[in-house]
Amino acid sequence: MVNWCAVIMAGGSGSRLEPLTRSVNKHLLPVYDKPMIYFPLTTLMLGGLRDFFIVTSPEHVPQFEALLGDGSHLGISITMRVQENPGGIAECFRICQPDIGERNVALILGDNIFYGAGLTSLVQRGLARDRGATIYGYEVADASSFGVVTLGDHGRAVSLIEKPTHPGSQLAVPGLYFYDNRVATIAAQQVRSGRGELEITDINRAYLELGELYVERIMRGIAWLDGGTPDDLFEAGQLVRVLEKRAAMRIACPEEVALRKGFVTSGQLRATIATYPNGSYKAYLTGLLDTVDAA
Ligand code: G1P
Repeated sequence: MVNWCAVIMAGGSGSRLEPLTRSVNKHLLPVYDKPMIYFPLTTLMLGGLRDFFIVTSPEHVPQFEALLGDGSHLGISITMRVQENPGGIAECFRICQPDIGERNVALILGDNIFYGAGLTSLVQRGLARDRGATIYGYEVADASSFGVVTLGDHGRAVSLIEKPTHPGSQLAVPGLYFYDNRVATIAAQQVRSGRGELEITDINRAYLELGELYVERIMRGIAWLDGGTPDDLFEAGQLVRVLEKRAAMRIACPEEVALRKGFVTSGQLRATIATYPNGSYKAYLTGLLDTVDAA
């Protein structure tokens, strides 16, 4: 059984959200009632991952530490790592190389929001593969602002292009990737793109050339959004609000996922939330604990 670690990429300047991002890291902005990073964090926690590295710019490290601490209250480990300049997503493998060691790596982008009943199995499909790389394909109306994959016979990838002007397919590649341990070596040898960045699409293309890139289609039933622009952020918040109001549940709540996955006991979680200020978040968690303890 191969060991996995998890990287959440929360760097970048967030310039498309200026001035929201002038003093606050993009991935800490609210998606309705929670900081954006709760979504990618819980997505990977649902798959059972417990050893996290969050990569961000030096000035934003304290903001993440204030929110998440070392993760121990969630029964996970969270370690901050610094990206000095916005040098691209794939730079995270160079930064985290000593942390990765002999392990495989699950990478999620801090602004990617997934929601749906099949989310756990979606993540588990990536974790099930010890060797090669797993990416996903999600059909969108306009793929030109994403990495785009074109599939050939038997659903195998034939090409990958980053933000094509005229996309050859509607299959966008979401910011959720699973790599075997060779990713560290591939990233170490990678050349910067025209915009001076280490592109994640180039990493994926390296696996494509090795014949070891697997594309899992994400079917309807799972929503995928990102928080890159004011409209994206607003729409994601609206979706979360509609879901939560209707069903009287919260989504992407790390404390709840930690409890349901058995990362913490109800007693441990009770002790944690005793320190939270009164409010609807604490009330929700208390109600959840009462239900779990009564069962
Ligand atoms: C990045 C990746 C792109 C991917 C997208 C998913 O783009 O480069 O391949 O499709 O994330 O959110 P960015 O949003 O950083 O421009």
